[in-house]
Amino acid sequence: MCGIFAYLNYLVPATRKEILDILINGLKRLEYRGYDSAGVGFDGSIEDCKECQIKLIKSQGKVCRLEEAVQKCKDVSFEKSFDIHVGIAHTRWATHGEPSDVNSHPQRSDTSNEFILVHNGIITNYKDIKSFLMKKGHQFESETDTEVIAKLIKHLYGTHKDSNITFRELVEIAIQQLEGAFALGVTSVHYPGEIVVTRRGSPLLIGVKSQTKLTTDHIPILYSKGKKDISLHEEHRGFIGSGKRNEEQTEFHPIGPNKIVEYFFASDASAVIEHTNQVIFLEDDDVAAVKNGCLTIHRVSRNVDDSTIREVITLKMEIQQIMKGSFSSFMQKEIFEQPESVVNTMRGRVNFATNKVVLGGIKDFMCEIRRCRRLLFIACGTSYHSAIATRQLLEELTELPVMVELASDFLDRNTPVFRDDVCFFISQSGETADTLMALRYCKTRGALIVGITNVVGSSISRDSHCGVHINAGPEIGVASTKAYTSQFIALVLFGLIMCEDRISMQERRNEIIQGLKTLPEQIKEVLKMDEQIHKLALELYQQKSLLVMGRGYNYATCLEGALKIKELTYMHSEGILAGELKHGPLALVDKAMPVIMVITRDLVYKKCINALEQVKARQGEPILICNSGDTDTQSQANKSVSVPLAIDCLQGILTCIPLQLLSLHIAELRKLDVDCPRNLAKSVTVE
Ligand code: F6R
Repeated sequence: MCGIFAYLNYLVPATRKEILDILINGLKRLEYRGYDSAGVGFDGSIEDCKECQIKLIKSQGKVCRLEEAVQKCKDVSFEKSFDIHVGIAHTRWATHGEPSDVNSHPQRSDTSNEFILVHNGIITNYKDIKSFLMKKGHQFESETDTEVIAKLIKHLYGTHKDSNITFRELVEIAIQQLEGAFALGVTSVHYPGEIVVTRRGSPLLIGVKSQTKLTTDHIPILYSKGKKDISLHEEHRGFIGSGKRNEEQTEFHPIGPNKIVEYFFASDASAVIEHTNQVIFLEDDDVAAVKNGCLTIHRVSRNVDDSTIREVITLKMEIQQIMKGSFSSFMQKEIFEQPESVVNTMRGRVNFATNKVVLGGIKDFMCEIRRCRRLLFIACGTSYHSAIATRQLLEELTELPVMVELASDFLDRNTPVFRDDVCFFISQSGETADTLMALRYCKTRGALIVGITNVVGSSISRDSHCGVHINAGPEIGVASTKAYTSQFIALVLFGLIMCEDRISMQERRNEIIQGLKTLPEQIKEVLKMDEQIHKLALELYQQKSLLVMGRGYNYATCLEGALKIKELTYMHSEGILAGELKHGPLALVDKAMPVIMVITRDLVYKKCINALEQVKARQGEPILICNSGDTDTQSQANKSVSVPLAIDCLQGILTCIPLQLLSLHIAELRKLDVDCPRNLAKSVTVE
């Protein structure tokens, strides 16, 4: 969690106001990653005196609070223009230390701000480093794990000052002492006009806006000849002694030097897309540095399999995709985008005339997948629900054992994984730490890794052997909506490919493909009920609790609907398998307990009606989500919401949307921040 943004302009004059606007705007785009405090660090706090002295402005609360604090700042001139300038910025989701000004980033090495940095991730050995640095006389002001990095860099600078150590080398030495996950952006008064960024386990990319055309679309990587010169010593786990680094300079081919260039460093592409669509995704342990306008990417050592280049990728994302437009929230926009986002998931993949389905990203691996022992689907939260939603269909179409696992639990159990397993990792962000760790766990055991992600270039998409991008477009609201329906469809498409050669399956397969064709129109029908659902929200929004029940293909809808309600409205909400009602949950039911029941015309319809009877027998007054025109079912309750009838295995897409809308309206009626629910962040890059 947390969002990092940094900006460096080289020979591109910009006023301080323009620079701060770019930084604050970058943070706004990343706010979904964390929003309990924010901060910026930029050059020159004492005018025309010590020009490279660094100024920090930090504020508890959302980015708009930081923006106000910046506007109120009296001791800088906003009109001053800089040809070269570095600024770093951060929006925080607290892990170590409560949200407060002092715990906000940038964190600093000392009260003169000699080194400042922004960090996304968790340093697990920070206590060890902190006690080492305290013994060396460093004084700490925050409760964060991040502060140790800034102070460690300063400590190392002190011990290497005489060796003309470069900024990049300094950071490189420091990160070798760190355990855990990080993406970092570091600047220093000792290295004006320079920035060093690096990552291990947390995402980071560099956007490049160059007025001269880039001479290369690849950035070669520099390597140190070995780790020999890094000697661990001292009393405490070792800090670096001196020693000459010995680089292979032959491949040196930076962007620059002396090219007019702007660099943007960000946790994800939505923060840079309005400036440039040319980006470089950093890999774990890459250390990228800009000096004299030149970008270089460095690694300490090289494994045989490591790529020696980083590609400059041209993003296809459009700026409109990350703007709210006339919608009240990103979540509302994303719910209403679903008629198009599901089409985008199918675009170029489903031929409705021939019933052919192709997923280009896994095409070459289909033989291996068909031969596998079992399919494992591993994910967290909403992404996990998309696997629950499609499990039954995948079992039917693949005739293989299908396991659906929560990534955290899967890891806790040390689940046995075999070489002939195929493991799917489903993640909107492609960065969720639990899912990513489960991926690495399965990869080391030799399983085939398939990524199902929305974010192109994300860690999961890059670490997978093959995969499918769901193409839902950027999802910014913290609560996942359109990604869920697109994940659902991507998994259905996979099932359809798995059974394409089975004659006995053709009728079912064709029905499903035709069902997919009508889905976008049916979603539009569901969205037309927005006003009706708003009225329902008016009746429910003051309740303390809400149960959502169903079974079969609609069970995932209950889990997902309840998750949306609890995360957005802070009401207690539970998704209950109707088959389990008698085994405990029925005790919750009485006249006062609001219950939503999902009952559609499928193979478990009669069983659902039994559950409805049981709820009514306990004075429950359920609200039904059922099929349009099903007056029989509608007549069994006082209130109902009707969705078009879809083929059984796709019905869950239509039954879920009313619950997305309901959670949105209840949250709005409770005057809660729909896009930024408390305590949550969109991209959970920590365990
Ligand atoms: C709920 C929600 C979360 C995410 C979960 C996994 O609305 O968004 O439950 O689904 O944190 O995130 P991804 O899909 O990015 O791995």
